[in-house]
Amino acid sequence: MIVTIDGPAGVGKSTVAKMLAARLDAVFLDTGATYRAVTLAAMNAGVDLTDIQAVLSLMTRTKFEFVHADNALKVTIDGVDATADIRRVDVTENVKHIASQGALRAELVKLQQAFAEQFEKIVTEGRDQGTVVFPNAKFKFFLTADAEERARRRHEELKAGGTEIAFDVLVEQIVQRDASDENRKVGPLKRADDAVAIDTTHLDAEGVVEEMIKVIEAAHG
Ligand code: DC
Repeated sequence: MIVTIDGPAGVGKSTVAKMLAARLDAVFLDTGATYRAVTLAAMNAGVDLTDIQAVLSLMTRTKFEFVHADNALKVTIDGVDATADIRRVDVTENVKHIASQGALRAELVKLQQAFAEQFEKIVTEGRDQGTVVFPNAKFKFFLTADAEERARRRHEELKAGGTEIAFDVLVEQIVQRDASDENRKVGPLKRADDAVAIDTTHLDAEGVVEEMIKVIEAAHG
């Protein structure tokens, strides 16, 4: 059983996907982590991120591991734990070079499909999971929330971690990432025709998961 959750940056996909996976006793896949891991590996190796052939060659000689442990996804690059480093701001800023290239996306799509094949139940989240990667998924969800609300959540998250970034700057970053995600030619952020849309602007994570469970239970009778 595959459940896909797509939506823009900062909408809370990872939080919700993890919670839903725990409820369904399923494995959770954060596909943004696959794009981030390739970006970080290329940065560490000093590879030009805009040189597709060089990145492809780096991908073939690098061992990426995405391991599901304690309801979290642990990422290693050539055996070195990269779980925290793939979240760095410089990595986030550079991901667009990888995410915009069809040839690189094709490799990551294969990797995501191979990951899913290992498990009986999987909840996967990203931008193109219901449209490109798992078009036949049993359940598809598309989350949205106002840019200001997403920036507010990010602001609180950062503040809790001791980082203060001006709210306006965060809104601007979110708007820019939306544009980059929606406008790329391959695998753009887009609701699949058969995905259930949930506006999370006025819902907390538990509320979103409850909506999803209702949809899943209704289908199971
Ligand atoms: O979800 P995230 O912020 O960790 O994703 C990081 C970047 O990876 C995001 O800017 C867009 C890209 N991405 C993508 O193109 N396709 C996916 N399925 C997941 C992420």
